[in-house]
Amino acid sequence: MTGDQLAALRTPAGQAVLAAATELAGADPLAAAAALRARDVEPALAAAALTQAELRRRAEPKFGPDAGRMFFTRAGLEQATRSVVAARRAARLAAAGVRSLADLGCGIGSDAIAAARAGIRVYAVDADPATAAVAAANAAALGLAHLIRVECRDATDVDLSDVDAVFCDPARRSGRTGRRIFEPPSYSPPWDFVAGLPARVPRTVLKLAPGIDHELVPPGAEAEWVSVAGDVVEATFWCGPLARVPRRASLLPADHQLTGGGQARAPVGPVGPFLYDPDGAVVRAHLVAELAETLDGVLADESIAYVYASRAVQTPFARCFAVEEVIPFSVKRLRAALRARGVGRVEIHKRGSAVDVEALRRSLRLSGSAAATVMLTRVAGAPTALLCAPVGR
Ligand SMILES: C[S@@+](CC[C@H](N)C(=O)[O-])C[C@H]1O[C@@H](n2cnc3c(N)ncnc32)[C@H](O)[C@@H]1O
Repeated sequence: MTGDQLAALRTPAGQAVLAAATELAGADPLAAAAALRARDVEPALAAAALTQAELRRRAEPKFGPDAGRMFFTRAGLEQATRSVVAARRAARLAAAGVRSLADLGCGIGSDAIAAARAGIRVYAVDADPATAAVAAANAAALGLAHLIRVECRDATDVDLSDVDAVFCDPARRSGRTGRRIFEPPSYSPPWDFVAGLPARVPRTVLKLAPGIDHELVPPGAEAEWVSVAGDVVEATFWCGPLARVPRRASLLPADHQLTGGGQARAPVGPVGPFLYDPDGAVVRAHLVAELAETLDGVLADESIAYVYASRAVQTPFARCFAVEEVIPFSVKRLRAALRARGVGRVEIHKRGSAVDVEALRRSLRLSGSAAATVMLTRVAGAPTALLCAPVGR
């Protein structure tokens, strides 16, 4: 969306077209375009309104009812922080006494909006003119323009002498292909600039890809991994006085938190009657040993994050399975074991196995009526299949 199209959509006439496009969202695109043309809507505005209506619909899982009042670019929506994550971050900043924040690379403004709602004054910049215009439109649409000042400029030029804290969520996708970029050297603003922020503004918060290397956590910072409904969505580095613990795994929406040093090693032992498959945030945060301790559990292979224990207990940090059979891995043996149990439907999980799950599923050729869960893993280095049943679900 161009700045001109956004401006046209924000006029009273544009809002009426957008409302009409919203009614048509989900309809056949050609029929929807024809319906708007029949109302004498100029084709470029009709196309912009239909795209915007579609993006609002797709934004609902991230933004809830706000999505219906906000504006989006396609890339901006994809990169935007979910409101549940942004609100939690903003609450922590406000609780730490932050009253003013620079948001460097604000995108469509999700984090800036959450900070403003927590009572923080935000100076938000984005280098992309259309994105910055969308952020400003969103601040206005949500009644927060008095707290959010948006400018289109390069983050590396911003004077940071006047803010309590800095937030930076660098772009992590290539513009050309839309593929994710995991290597920090490809971040924009550049990694050197991002990594240098804590030295300039001690209360710096960085939002990074979940795959970020622990080696890159700034000295003394807290590294938090956040998952939403089991999907790890980001790593957050809380620098300077904002750090509380070395490592934290936070599971949203319920906000269960596991903390620790991130250095401990879980004891290694035999496969037990219950297997715990930790949430990805726990694994990414290197807190499997801390989880194992709460379960009185062990790993069956020192490099694989399945925890085995003798009891089934409720924990938000892992899914629990009863281990029914331990099979040294071979397709033939696994097929025989599943057939003996009349299994036709199989859920296959893996940790530490290079097996192609779909190819395995095809080669198992199962036809029974029972269901089973198979964990492909390693036990003391040996490829192993565990036949399991979920506990408590
Ligand atoms: C991951 S997005 C931010 C998303 C935002 N936190 C949100 O939740 O909506 C990163 C943004 O940084 C912007 N950006 C990239 N390089 C920049 C730079 N050097 N200066 C300012 N903004 C930049 C991109 O245009 C993009 O909108």
